[in-house]
Amino acid sequence: MKIGILGTGGMAAALGGAWTAAGHDVVIGGRSRERAQRTAELVSAAGHGSLAAAARHGDVTLLAVPAADASQLVGSLAGDLAGRTVIDCTNAVVPTDEGLMLATGGATSVARQLAAAAPDAYVVKAFNLCHVSTWTLRPSTFENVPLAVPYCADHSAAAAATETLISSIGCTPAPCGGLARAAYLEATAALAIGLWWAGGQPRAAFPASAQV
Ligand SMILES: NC(=O)c1ccc[n+]([C@@H]2O[C@H](COP(=O)([O-])OP(=O)(O)OC[C@H]3O[C@@H](n4cnc5c(N)ncnc54)[C@H](OP(=O)(O)O)[C@@H]3O)[C@@H](O)[C@H]2O)c1
Repeated sequence: MKIGILGTGGMAAALGGAWTAAGHDVVIGGRSRERAQRTAELVSAAGHGSLAAAARHGDVTLLAVPAADASQLVGSLAGDLAGRTVIDCTNAVVPTDEGLMLATGGATSVARQLAAAAPDAYVVKAFNLCHVSTWTLRPSTFENVPLAVPYCADHSAAAAATETLISSIGCTPAPCGGLARAAYLEATAALAIGLWWAGGQPRAAFPASAQV
């Protein structure tokens, strides 16, 4: 599959590397050509270029920039992203006196804001729950169980493309409904990250049912 990645940082490298190793055709796009080239070389991606070039390359585009910048960026690339699947892995978390909170307030989601910014793109929420290091594991298996990757999508073709990308790196797709439920994925990440930061173990809070 042709994948464009917007961003040249940790998530771009980790998922870009996993998808390249799985045989996908990945182009890394950044606002700095130099950083895009460096990340592309790091993960042996097929190419690199501007953000717009990466957006135009992908049947699927991974958005791997800070949540605070995501809507403006996607809006500026709306024409390039029309008709394409846009996977949003962002987490709009902000530390406050009350703990880690969502900049969205939780009633809406970054994913829905992106869908409004680029109405002809097919936005999917996925890959936001796990730490960046997870995507460098080969395979992503924990206690002999492949990692489940929850996602939310409104469009069947975008959901199918996302499932292909999840499966191709040895993980299990976990469909969680439409984009209206993306706020729950974002809130789950905020809760889990808050627990990690407090020294807790969020994975210990989701054991298999004793009845299974
Ligand atoms: N790190 C994790 O464990 C993790 C896990 C799940 C989800 N996420 C989410 O994934 C996203 C990326 O995280 P990351 O860890 O990869 O961050 P990162 O390493 O800091 O990389 C961020 C990337 O975004 C680019 N960027 C920043 N502002 C931009 C703008 N206005 N326009 C275009 N590009 C811009 C940066 O480019 P420059 O180099 O030019 O500044 C950089 O390439 C974030 O939304 C984060 O919440 C992260």
